[in-house]
Amino acid sequence: MRILSGIQPSGILHVGNYFGMMKPSIELQDRGDAFYFIADYHSMTSLYDANLRREYTRQVAIDFLACGLDPKKAVLFKQSDVPEHVELSWILSSICPMGRLERCHSYKDKIAKGLSANHGLFAYPVLMAADILIYDADSVPVGRDQKQHVEVTRDLAIKFNQTYGETFRVPEPAFREGAEVIPGLDGQKMSKSYNNAVEIFGEEKPTRKRLMSIVMDSRSPDEAKPDAEENRAIQLIKHLTTPEIYSEEVEKLKAGGYGYGDLKKRLFELYWQYFRPARERRTDLMQNLDYVDQVLANGAEKAREIARSVNQRARKACGLE
Ligand code: TYM
Repeated sequence: MRILSGIQPSGILHVGNYFGMMKPSIELQDRGDAFYFIADYHSMTSLYDANLRREYTRQVAIDFLACGLDPKKAVLFKQSDVPEHVELSWILSSICPMGRLERCHSYKDKIAKGLSANHGLFAYPVLMAADILIYDADSVPVGRDQKQHVEVTRDLAIKFNQTYGETFRVPEPAFREGAEVIPGLDGQKMSKSYNNAVEIFGEEKPTRKRLMSIVMDSRSPDEAKPDAEENRAIQLIKHLTTPEIYSEEVEKLKAGGYGYGDLKKRLFELYWQYFRPARERRTDLMQNLDYVDQVLANGAEKAREIARSVNQRARKACGLE
C-alpha cells in the first residue's frame, strides 16, 4: 500500500495537525510505503514572507521527526524539491472543470476570511491532486477539512483515465476515527488562522495561560454537568490521554464538585505530559540541523524518482511524449 500526505509550512504546527494528520501518518509508516511532504508550493497561496517560509519548512521537518516520523520507514521531503508536481498540476488543470473548483469549501472559506482570491488559491486542489496522483497513492491520511480535496483528486484521476486511457491509481482518504476534526479553544475547528490553536510545542508558561483562558459557562463548581462530553477542555483531553483517564474526568464533571479551573489545570498537565518525549527529541534535533536537512535531501531523491516515472507515464498518455 502506498500512503501519501502533506502539510503546509504556513505557521507553527498545532494539536489539530498532530491528531488529524501527523499521528495517523506516523502510525501508517509501519503499514506501507509512506511518503510525507512539506507543501511549500501550497503555502505560497497565503504566505508572502520568504524567510518565514524557509523557517516554517524546516520547523515542520523537525516537528514531524520529533513526533516519531522515522526516515528509515517513511520518505520525508519538501514538495518544491520535486517540481514534477507542478507539471502534472498543469496537465490536470486542463481537464478540471471550473465548477468543480468553485464548489470547494476551503476556497470559499478562505475568501470569506479575507484572503485575496488569487489564482493559486483557486487552483490549489489541482496541485493537491497532482501531489497525490504522482506517487500512485492508495491512501491519503488527512483531517476532515481535506476530504473534498481528495474527492477532487479522485474525480480528476477518473476523468484523466477516461480521456487518455488508464494512467492513474484512484486514491482514498483515510481518517483517524474520532480525530477528523480537532476542536480549538473556542470549539470551532482548530486552525492556524482562527486564533484558537494550541501549538504542539508551545512554551510551558504561555501554553498554560492559553489553556486556562478557555471560556466556559457560568455554572458553579458544585453543579453537576450532565453534558460533560461537550466541554471544550474535555474534548481535548479525550485525545491527550487514555480512555480510562478520559472517562474519569468526564465522570468527575458529571458528578459535580469539579471546577473548571481544576479541569483546565488537568488539561494542561495531560498536554504537557503527552508531548514530553517528542519535546525532548525536538530539543536534540534543534542541535542537529544538518541531520534534518540531510533527511529532506535523501527524501527528495527517493520521491523524485517515483514522481518522474509517473509524470512520464502521464506525459506519454496525453501525447506530450
Ligand atoms: P494543512 O497544512 O492545512 O493541514 C495539515 C493536516 O492537518 C489536518 N488538520 C486537522 N485535522 C483535524 N482537526 C483539525 N482541527 C485540523 N487542522 C488541520 C488537515 O486536515 C491536514 O491533513 N492541503 C493540505 C496540504 C496538502 C496535502 C496534499 C495533503 C497539500 N497537498 C496532498 C494531502 C495530500 C493542507 O492545507 O493541510
